[in-house]
Amino acid sequence: MNNDRRHFPTGFLWGSATAGHQVEGDNWNSDCWALEHAQSSIFKEPSGDAVDQWNRFDDDMALLSAIGLGAYRFGIEWSRIEPQEGIFSQAALDHYQRCIDACLQRGIVPIVTFSHFTIPLWVARRGGMMCDAFPALFARYCDHAARALRGIAYACTMNELNVPLIIDDVATGLFAGEDGPAKKAAAEAALGAPITSNFLFTPGEALLRNGLGAHAAARDAIKAARPDIQVGITLSLQDEQAEPGAEAVRAARIAKMVTPFLDAVRGDDFIGVQTYTRTTSRRDGSHSPEPGHPLTVMGYEDRPQALAEVCRYVWEQTGTPILVTENGFSGDDDARRAAFVAESLAALHGAIADGVAVRGYCYWSLLDNYEWMAGYGPKFGLIGVDRTTQKRRIKPSALAYGAIARANGFGAEDKAQPTPQLTGGTPLGVA
Ligand code: BGC
Repeated sequence: MNNDRRHFPTGFLWGSATAGHQVEGDNWNSDCWALEHAQSSIFKEPSGDAVDQWNRFDDDMALLSAIGLGAYRFGIEWSRIEPQEGIFSQAALDHYQRCIDACLQRGIVPIVTFSHFTIPLWVARRGGMMCDAFPALFARYCDHAARALRGIAYACTMNELNVPLIIDDVATGLFAGEDGPAKKAAAEAALGAPITSNFLFTPGEALLRNGLGAHAAARDAIKAARPDIQVGITLSLQDEQAEPGAEAVRAARIAKMVTPFLDAVRGDDFIGVQTYTRTTSRRDGSHSPEPGHPLTVMGYEDRPQALAEVCRYVWEQTGTPILVTENGFSGDDDARRAAFVAESLAALHGAIADGVAVRGYCYWSLLDNYEWMAGYGPKFGLIGVDRTTQKRRIKPSALAYGAIARANGFGAEDKAQPTPQLTGGTPLGVA
C-alpha cells in the first residue's frame, strides 16, 4: 500500500458532534438545569445560554460546511419536545426540523441523538431509569419525534448508556465528606427526586434493565416510524490495558462496563464508539494513565491510538458496523489538537484497512461548549466561542481536520483540494 495515499472508504462520514444541553442554552425544564442551580451545586457553574446554538444553528452549519465537514451529530432535547408528560410541543419539533433542514440544505448528514444525558424534570420526578415505565416513556417520545422529523440519517437513541458504571466512584465521591449529605439533600431538593433519577447516578441494575430496555424499545419505535433511519446507541469505550499481573482487574472492568452493553446491541445498524483515551489496570485493583505520558486537560492520557484499538475490539466482539460518534482532545494547545486528530485518523485508517467496518468519524466537539460539571473550563472545540458576544472563531485544528476530510484521507491529493475561504484564528462574527 502506498502510505502517501491513505484514503478512507467512499462515503466515509466526516463530521463533528455536540449535545443539546451543552450548546443550545436555557434548557431549564431538564434535570441537569435543576442540579446546576442547586445550593452548593456539584456543577462548577450553570450552563446558562451555553453557546446559544438554539438561535445559531444555521450559522454553525455554515461554519461546519466551510471547514469541509459533511456530517453533524447533534441532540434533540426531550424536555423541550415533551415538556410535560404526554404533552408534545410542535414548536420544538418545528425548531428541530429547521435544524435538520439546515444540515440537508448544505449536504450535511444529520446524526441525531435522542437523549444525551438529560431528561425532562417530570421524568426525573418519576424516578428516571429507576422507574420501570422508563422504556415505554422513552419509546413514546422517540416514536413521536421520529414521526414528526423528516430527514434524519442516523439516530443515536441514548448517549453513553454505560457511563454511570465508569464514573461510579467519582459520583460517590461527590457526596462524600463532611458536607456530602447536605449537598446531596440540596441536589435532591432542586430535582424534586432522589439523586438516582439523574442519569449519571443511575445504579447498574437499572441501567441494564431499564436503560437497555429503553434503547431496544426506542430503536424499534424509530425503525417502525422511519425504516430508512440507521439506529444505534453510543457507548463510552476506552482502550483497556493491563500492567503485567493485572489482567483479571482489566477483565473485571470490561465485564462490568463493556460486555453487557456490546452483547445487547450486537446486530444494531451501528454502534457509536466514543473513545478519549487509554487506561491501564493495576495489580492493586486501580486503573490510571501510563506514568510519564502527557495528559489532556481532562486528566486523560493523551493517546490518539486508543480509538483504533477500541474499534478493532468492538468489531471483533460484535461484527457490527461502527460510527465514531465522539473522539477529541481537551486543552488550549490547538496544535496538539490538530496532531491528535491526524494521529487518531491515521491509526483508524489502519484498522479500516484491516477490515474493521467504520462508517464515519465525528470529532468532539464542534464548539467549545458546556463540559457538564466542569463548566466552561475544558475546551474541546474546533471552533472557539467568546461567550460574552457568542462570536465564533475557527481554530487552525478545524482547518487541518477539514483538509483531511476534503481529501477523504491523507496523501498527495490533500494539496489538490480547494482551500477553505477561512483563515485559522479569524473571528467570525456570525451573530
Ligand atoms: C460525552 C460528552 C462530553 C465528552 C467530553 C462524552 O462522555 O458524551 O457530552 O462532553 O465526553 O468529556
